[in-house]
Amino acid sequence: MLNLNFHLRDKGLSNALELEALPRHRWYFVKEGFSPKLVDQAIAIDGVQKGEILFDPFSGSGTAPLTGAIGGLKVRASEINPFLGFLSATKLSPAKPATFKSEFDKLLKATQRSVPSRLEGYSTFAEPNRWNRWLFPTDVLRSFEAGRQALYRADPECRNLLKLALLGAVMDCCNATRDGKCLRYAKNWKDQQSKPEDLRKRLEERAEAIASDLEETPLTGTASRITQGDARTLLKRRSREKFRLCITSPPYLNSFDYSDVYRPELFLGGFVRSNKSLMKIRLQTVRSHLQASWEDPIREDFGTLYSDCISLLQGRAENLWNPRIPTMVQAYFEDMEQIFKGLRRRALENASLWLVASTSAYAGVEVPVDLILAELGQRSGWFLREVGVLRYLRSSSQHVKHVEDEKRKSVPLRESVVIFDASKPSQSKRSHTK
Ligand SMILES: C[S@@+](CC[C@H](N)C(=O)[O-])C[C@H]1O[C@@H](n2cnc3c(N)ncnc32)[C@H](O)[C@@H]1O
Repeated sequence: MLNLNFHLRDKGLSNALELEALPRHRWYFVKEGFSPKLVDQAIAIDGVQKGEILFDPFSGSGTAPLTGAIGGLKVRASEINPFLGFLSATKLSPAKPATFKSEFDKLLKATQRSVPSRLEGYSTFAEPNRWNRWLFPTDVLRSFEAGRQALYRADPECRNLLKLALLGAVMDCCNATRDGKCLRYAKNWKDQQSKPEDLRKRLEERAEAIASDLEETPLTGTASRITQGDARTLLKRRSREKFRLCITSPPYLNSFDYSDVYRPELFLGGFVRSNKSLMKIRLQTVRSHLQASWEDPIREDFGTLYSDCISLLQGRAENLWNPRIPTMVQAYFEDMEQIFKGLRRRALENASLWLVASTSAYAGVEVPVDLILAELGQRSGWFLREVGVLRYLRSSSQHVKHVEDEKRKSVPLRESVVIFDASKPSQSKRSHTK
């Protein structure tokens, strides 16, 4: 089932590195993205034609929707995180460069003012606070706020583009940098804080990139739709639209909460106004992390590989860093089963499904997520074409409780693409080997 000689292996297709240089993709860097080349490969290999529907239930930063839209496909996508949903949709903007440029000049001027922000005094957004560290210098936050308020007067065609540039610029001035699951402060961060002039400089740089990409890579925007919401619920709705290609990367089963890590953008952009509304979003994410107290799963019949793995995990319960890990693993596959079934109902008979997944490991037990998903997909009405290995990652180091355990039980992780067809595939589509 596992193709170790997959022709797309070790070509950097499961990471976001090249996105920083590509038009429109570069408007906001999101580390969790995958490569547009993978999307292009799926479109080419499966012969997807212009005007056909590309679907991505877990849009993230919008790599698949944007690549599909640039290729002339009709795009449908969903995303639970409202900041990421906004980002995906904004990258598809049909705005005219000339309108954008003139609206931008007004925004830049507005940021010369200083307007108190409602985030001053809230959490660690500004000083003073009881933790004695703050994300933004108050004058930068005030300059940002002046710009944010000016957005209400901007031409609606460009408003989201301006908002994205402004959010990007203020995050460039953040005292902490994103590092995996948290925001980290450098040793001497207090001596390196940005000034409002830095905010304006970064804003100009970002606006320049946007204006040039609007010019060089124009999109009509008419055939695209990104819906903010829970894919599990959205896929239950009836729809006459069926997709030809679904290419997606569901949350990895690695206890990473994609909502919490974008907390600054969510608050700064007004996508959430309180921890309560943030928690509401976190509770709707696929159950791949333990930071929210979601409902326990009920189903447990997800194939033989799953059963073997869950027994091993339960057997090592005392070594797990959280006793709820086996429940999280069960809940994840319950969610993914729901996704597979929902996707099958939305698929054309000649559709294919490309799903990027990573294995994980807890207390030295490997969870072969790609292979379990391969079984689960087949049980949910899909025909497995292959599980192509994209790359092997460094061994899992953080998912054990004791260091001695870690040394004993280091498990290599891999990223794969699990490819399915909605109908029994022809011989030519079966496997791709180097
Ligand atoms: C691995 S990331 C996708 C990255 C994306 N391929 C890209 O290139 O940026 C998974 C995404 O699924 C989203 N997500 C998690 N639970 C969801 C749900 N229930 N419905 C829709 N999206 C969800 C997360 O917010 C995250 O952005």
